Amino acid sequence: MEILLHVQLRTTTTTTLLVMIETMGGGDGLLVVSRVCASLVAILVLTWALFFTTKPLNIYSVLHPLLMVIGLILISGEGILVHRWLDGSRKRKKLVHLWMQGVALGTGIIGIWTKFEPNFYTLHSWLGLLSVSLFGAQWLMGFISFWHRGEVRMSRMRVLPWHVFLGLYTYGLAVITAETGLLEKLTFLQTNGVVLKRSSEAMIVNGLGLWLAMLCGVVILTALTPKIFQQQNSDTKCYTS
Ligand code: HEM
Repeated sequence: MEILLHVQLRTTTTTTLLVMIETMGGGDGLLVVSRVCASLVAILVLTWALFFTTKPLNIYSVLHPLLMVIGLILISGEGILVHRWLDGSRKRKKLVHLWMQGVALGTGIIGIWTKFEPNFYTLHSWLGLLSVSLFGAQWLMGFISFWHRGEVRMSRMRVLPWHVFLGLYTYGLAVITAETGLLEKLTFLQTNGVVLKRSSEAMIVNGLGLWLAMLCGVVILTALTPKIFQQQNSDTKCYTS
């Protein structure tokens, strides 16, 4: 009886989730939500960089969050969802995916360079190194796999779930790193009395952290949604990415 109730509850929950997503226009509604979150993140980080720069102005301190958030996080998020918004052949989608992730990785590396001091004593710098290294390894694997298309198709199929898992994990890790960077910077500014606790700068930075967290959830959900649809509706409809 208990098992039956559990199964029924699971089915109802999944159906509700599917109906919700379908009401939002299938996967495309989620894509719109993720773009709204991304736009808010971009507006907030630009506002912070342009209107609230700490005096005296240090261009590298301004460039670091800009490159990390707009370059690494926003571009790689769009790159993850390329299969959802780009029409055309699989090869074309893969090439654009590879390019976008390459640009994100490049800006991430330049972003780290803007702050480079070989002391690495903060959690933020450790997480940053880990996420950029994972990002680099992922990109290299994708690059190699792209240029060896004809070979060992079966092994590529086996690697794909790991590529998806590692890609989403690395993206989440980059968002967590940015959150620790924001917290570290704001705490530093507030402790030194440069920024007041309830000032508009503090609100902007907190808002940026909040929308980054929202964006992360929506991007991951959007990336995984086609899989849910394929499994649940394989007998009736088939939604593919
Ligand atoms: C995905 C996003 C990010 C990554 C991967 C990242 C990575 C890094 C790394 C590796 C360092 C150490 C550089 C060194 O010591 O040589 C660093 C430093 C720093 N980052 Fe970020 N960062 C990110 C986002 C941010 C954001 C959004 C802020 C907000 C202002 C920020 C603020 C700082 C600060 C203040 C430092 C110097 C202090 C420290 O080493 O912790 N970071 N970052």
